[in-house]
Amino acid sequence: MNTLANKVALITGGASGIGRATAILFAQEGAAVVLADINVEQGQSVVAEVEAAGGKAIFFLCNVARADDCRAAVEKTIAAFGGLHILFNNAGIIRRADVLGTTEEEWDRVMAVNVKSVFLMSKYAIPHMEKAGGGSIINTSSGWGMRGGGNAVSYCASKGAVTNMTRAMAIDHGAQNIRVNAVCPGDTDTPMLRSEARQLGQDEESFMAEAAKRPLRRYAQPLEIAQAVLYLASDTASYVTGAALVIDGGGLA
Ligand code: NAI
Repeated sequence: MNTLANKVALITGGASGIGRATAILFAQEGAAVVLADINVEQGQSVVAEVEAAGGKAIFFLCNVARADDCRAAVEKTIAAFGGLHILFNNAGIIRRADVLGTTEEEWDRVMAVNVKSVFLMSKYAIPHMEKAGGGSIINTSSGWGMRGGGNAVSYCASKGAVTNMTRAMAIDHGAQNIRVNAVCPGDTDTPMLRSEARQLGQDEESFMAEAAKRPLRRYAQPLEIAQAVLYLASDTASYVTGAALVIDGGGLA
């Protein structure tokens, strides 16, 4: 239970879904966890949950699409815990529409929250990891960062970018012992997934039943993605960098 002892982890989108499950798991494994999210109420409730279980966590209001917010989140992390070893770039949004149904504003917003955020947070975090002698960055991509999907053009573009920038960053920062990897979840039971049914005008139950159609015959629970993130964050993955780890119940297979 101390895989991440003495580590400091910054998690974007930590107030909900996959980010929340990862925050709780990281804290159980001994990390001091910083949650950066725009949802204050839920962020603080995750902090309370971690603390009630004896873990260490703090929340910062941070819009990951804004450079000032990202810089402040990294600086406040260093001020609070004295270092930064793990960065989980996980905040994300989805817009379920094709090119014709997507406005320019929606396109820009999806690209800013899903892609620019990874650039910004990494830009401010990497110098601290270098100082510490290394670190681990995990970016949340998607199965749709490996192949296309219908009615999700901005999202597919954003996740394809996340997968490939992960590889580029792994090449650039390997010499500083900074590992950079992506997780590519398949459908996972979070508020985001359920919001897709509403966006597509579908009944939630049949949408979720469709999401379960894959070799393992079910969609994922957030903890199942968090466990893969823990692996990539930990020293167990000491020789893993530039990887895109698919966790999707066999969907892409
Ligand atoms: P979620 O909606 O439960 O959580 C996303 C979190 O990101 C929320 O707490 C939200 O407040 C936060 N967020 C949104 N915009 C933000 C911003 N501008 N600044 C800071 N925080 C912001 O969704 P979920 O499913 O946990 O998503 C996490 C990641 O997993 C996303 O990158 C998503 O694209 C990815 N993913 C999810 C899949 C799924 O089926 N749920 C499948 C594949 C990838």
